[in-house]
Amino acid sequence: MTILVTGGLGYIGSHTVVELLNNDFEVVIVDDLSNSERFILNNIQEITGKKPVFYPFDLRRKELLAQVFDAHQIDGCINFAASKAVGESQLKPVDYYENNLFSLINILQEFKTREISNFIFSSSCTVYGQADVMPIDENAPLKMPESVYGKTKQMGEQILIDFAKAYHRKISVLRYFNPIGAHPSGKLGELPIGVPDNLVPYVMQTAAGIREKLSIWGDNYPTQDGTAVRDYIYVVDLAKAHVAALKKLIEDTSAEAVVDTYNLGTGKGSSVLEVVKAFEKANNVEVPYKICSRREGDITIAYANPEKAERELNWKSETSLEESLRTVWEWQKYLNARNS
Ligand code: UFG
Repeated sequence: MTILVTGGLGYIGSHTVVELLNNDFEVVIVDDLSNSERFILNNIQEITGKKPVFYPFDLRRKELLAQVFDAHQIDGCINFAASKAVGESQLKPVDYYENNLFSLINILQEFKTREISNFIFSSSCTVYGQADVMPIDENAPLKMPESVYGKTKQMGEQILIDFAKAYHRKISVLRYFNPIGAHPSGKLGELPIGVPDNLVPYVMQTAAGIREKLSIWGDNYPTQDGTAVRDYIYVVDLAKAHVAALKKLIEDTSAEAVVDTYNLGTGKGSSVLEVVKAFEKANNVEVPYKICSRREGDITIAYANPEKAERELNWKSETSLEESLRTVWEWQKYLNARNS
């Protein structure tokens, strides 16, 4: 079976391509290299011994996308391609709506006319806003996210639900909590452009001396130590969930519409300070930090109830926080060696 993976050279995309190839799927990647690099393709080949087909273009180029569907018998799509910087999305809302939603719609147009099913969408726990009840299950009420990025995720979900119902197709919406870590080979990981927004890449660069100090955004939250709490999920575990979700869609041969939604997390909340301490312990390094005021738009606490994914996909997170953070440091060492 051939799976189109958009954004397949990106952070979660590249790890998922490896898992797909390891499970004997054929993979066709479309990635515009806006937040990824070509060497990732070679590294995927080194890890798996297989070379996916790769097309470097922006999914808004409808005519190029149609050519990919003409050239390959596509059986499904995992759609990672999207702009994802929360802060930037507030400054460039029109660009975010265009990039994230037009690309989705262009793929769905191809799916519609060619009668293809099996679509997996990268969504985010941001669709719950600050949920009232922890852990968060899939029935928690959706709140319109504050960020434009988050809004594109919520709108994307809605578009897909309407698509599945109208054309009797099968989709899976995967709501990620906070993905972290790198491939155990040390050859794939997150490549933040410029100053990282996210916690773990910033911790990694601070430990490496690229940044002077980590700013911890707020220590007066009502949590165990005053810093905000998230559910940090190892990226390889997350990648495996995509394969499980895809297999479930493929195995369902009924002609009915399917809309599966899963929260993908560990079920455990960790505070910012706990992450910093775990990183230090896992890698025997120091992470200098300072306490600053809260970051605008941040929620206090979010962690998943992953029971539905465990029940229906036979999937659960397997890797501890410390183990995940060890892979991050290996990745930084790999990047240091590449840059030297
Ligand atoms: N944090 C710091 N210092 C930093 C970076 C982050 O203290 O330099 C803190 C944040 O304040 C937050 C926690 O670390 O409490 C995690 O922050 P991230 O930016 O890594 O992750 P977020 O939970 O804020 O954002 C993530 C995804 C977004 C998604 C959002 C939904 O990165 O894509 O969850 O809540 F929209």
